[in-house]
Amino acid sequence: MTYHWTLECSSCDERHDASGLPTVCPACGMPWLVRYRHHPSPDLRDAIARRGPTMWRYREWLPIQPDEEPVSLGEGMTPLVRAASIEQDLGLDEVWIKDESQNPTGSFKARGMSAAITRATLGGATAFTVPTAGNAGVALSAYATRAGCPARIFAPRTTPPRLLEQMDVHGGELIAQDGHIGDCGKASRAYARDAGAFDVSTLREPYRIEGKKTLGLELAEQFGWDLPEVIIYPTGGGTGLIGMWKAFDELRAAGWIPAGSNARLFSVQSTGCAPVVRAFEADRDRTEAWEDPVTVASGLRVPAPLGGGLILRGLRETGGCAVAVTDTALEQSQKRLAAAEGIDMCPEGGASVAALTELVRRGIVERRHRTVLFNTGAGWLYR
Ligand SMILES: Cc1ncc(COP(=O)(O)O)c(C=O)c1O
Repeated sequence: MTYHWTLECSSCDERHDASGLPTVCPACGMPWLVRYRHHPSPDLRDAIARRGPTMWRYREWLPIQPDEEPVSLGEGMTPLVRAASIEQDLGLDEVWIKDESQNPTGSFKARGMSAAITRATLGGATAFTVPTAGNAGVALSAYATRAGCPARIFAPRTTPPRLLEQMDVHGGELIAQDGHIGDCGKASRAYARDAGAFDVSTLREPYRIEGKKTLGLELAEQFGWDLPEVIIYPTGGGTGLIGMWKAFDELRAAGWIPAGSNARLFSVQSTGCAPVVRAFEADRDRTEAWEDPVTVASGLRVPAPLGGGLILRGLRETGGCAVAVTDTALEQSQKRLAAAEGIDMCPEGGASVAALTELVRRGIVERRHRTVLFNTGAGWLYR
């Protein structure tokens, strides 16, 4: 079969075709990036506007053949909600919240899992495994079920109980264990090896990034095929940030957005686990493992992201940076937004709001910058 994309190593010169079940580059162990043979024509924008409100409206930008059906629960096309209270508090003209809590399974993880499970089942996978900080496990549980496959999910015991419950609701087999997501990753890889399940860990297969790329495609469409000046993204493993960076590059190269439009990408992490912030500030091109990661924002408790180098490149190339906020600050912002705007943010979403306050204080974000804050999931899943 001829595919309209190939795989290119994010770190060395290795290439791979799209057949079967690719994982990471066999030469250097780093993530693959999907490269499309042709970019779709900008004329397609009008047709896309008339398609259904899911991320698969962008299917020509995604790793799916014309005759293939995605494993879908209606993910994507989440609203951009104006946040007047933040505009007033911080003296900014336009602040928007991209509310990913409105996805199936309550978080942005639905996008990546829809793409990964679609490709993996087409490639022959019949069982899945994942290590998770919570939301990815819920999403895998639902999407594996949707595809008619079993899933085993490894999560830290400290994961908020409701997230663990939701994995069970969709039929996933939960293994709660001591340690952080890195420890769960080892267990998940061992299980994949022993049981033949396909491991859909962040960046250990190439397609979750493509699903997350739709965050960027969607923002561009919602801004009238242009980009906001500032995007703040709560960063753990970094798939969403890398995906948006990739989306904007592809859209520019294809002439879908103006050549000069650039969204500066900003990562926010918790002061209890901030490997990206530390590496960014030290001017390094790789992250180093964070000892004893502790934060209530479980999605940010990723001490050694495999895509650390890619995240740092995305921040630097777009002119953004990385900031750390305390758990107290992110929880306060989360509560304030729930009361002031009616949006029940997850703690990671609260971190985006707290980061904006810090970036305005430092003079990095100014009044005229149209700003998008990511609320990556639903607050109620953490209570
Ligand atoms: C709610 C939430 N926000 C943010 C993140 C971090 O996402 P990423 O791995 O794309 O950096 C996670 C990951 O688990 C999450 O669950």
